[in-house]
Amino acid sequence: MTSVLVTKRIWPDAIDLLRRSVDEVEYVETDDGIGAEELLTRSRGKQAIVSQLTDKFTAAVLDQLAGIRIISNVAVGFDNIDVPAAVARGILVTNTPDVLTDTTADFAWTLLMAAARRVVEGHAYVHSGQWRKWAVDLLVGQDIHHRTLGIFGLGRIGQAVARRARGFSMRVLYHDVQEIDNDLGAEFVDKETLLRESDFVSVHVPLSDATRKLIGEPELRLMKPTAILVNTSRGPVVDEAAVARALRERWIAYAGLDVFEREPQVHPDLLALENVVLAPHIASASIETRRKMSMMAAENAIAGLQGRRPPNLVQV
Ligand code: GLV
Repeated sequence: MTSVLVTKRIWPDAIDLLRRSVDEVEYVETDDGIGAEELLTRSRGKQAIVSQLTDKFTAAVLDQLAGIRIISNVAVGFDNIDVPAAVARGILVTNTPDVLTDTTADFAWTLLMAAARRVVEGHAYVHSGQWRKWAVDLLVGQDIHHRTLGIFGLGRIGQAVARRARGFSMRVLYHDVQEIDNDLGAEFVDKETLLRESDFVSVHVPLSDATRKLIGEPELRLMKPTAILVNTSRGPVVDEAAVARALRERWIAYAGLDVFEREPQVHPDLLALENVVLAPHIASASIETRRKMSMMAAENAIAGLQGRRPPNLVQV
């Protein structure tokens, strides 16, 4: 008998697929998430878990997941799972890459453009009835075209962001652990050059010990006072308190942030600033993409349960 635990609400089509393919589906049909204790209780007797980035699988939790063969995360990121520890315990881990690449890149651009052209400030201005007359310098922002975009992490999403920059005739710089062959005209530079020369810095690295606080006070101080920082990767890649200070003291001009260190909490200083656009971790949140992510996670779990190699196995 096959049995799966779905820890949080996912797209209904994916639940239908699981119900057609797996003997028992225990579905926690809320957005609240379950704590470690409930996760362990509900996992008993299951062989698969369809999880989300709010479920934490530490080595200690994995130790207690007797019988689990596969953890299928509904996300491309898998920093919520200690993958080496899972592998060591014979548990497969899967994610949902590719389907969200363009959607996430679109959203990095949404934040970049909203910040550069002060869209959110403009909306608040109109909405609150402050708009009385046209003025030559009313809410003037930054040009995007023909400027320099710096990308940290030229993986799938970083490349999709770079591809979009071509339409804006931009110079594109990138930094990564190594130079990456690309036909996007993106130029490999060291971290310092990227920070010093970019008008826009967009972060697209996975969260790991190597990338935690990749952007902190020293990095922000290297950036131009007119620069805009965009983060759609993971909150802890950027030091939120340092960004708040950089924005308040104008070491940089603006930021567009979709991810935070302690979601759903946002550093209170950021909430008090006007030169930041904040979003609630929705970079991959288009209807089609969230449906595809859910379906993919269901398919990965089913493959694992049926003893097949899941299509999106995470390897470390
Ligand atoms: C979302 O943040 C994801 O990793 O898919």
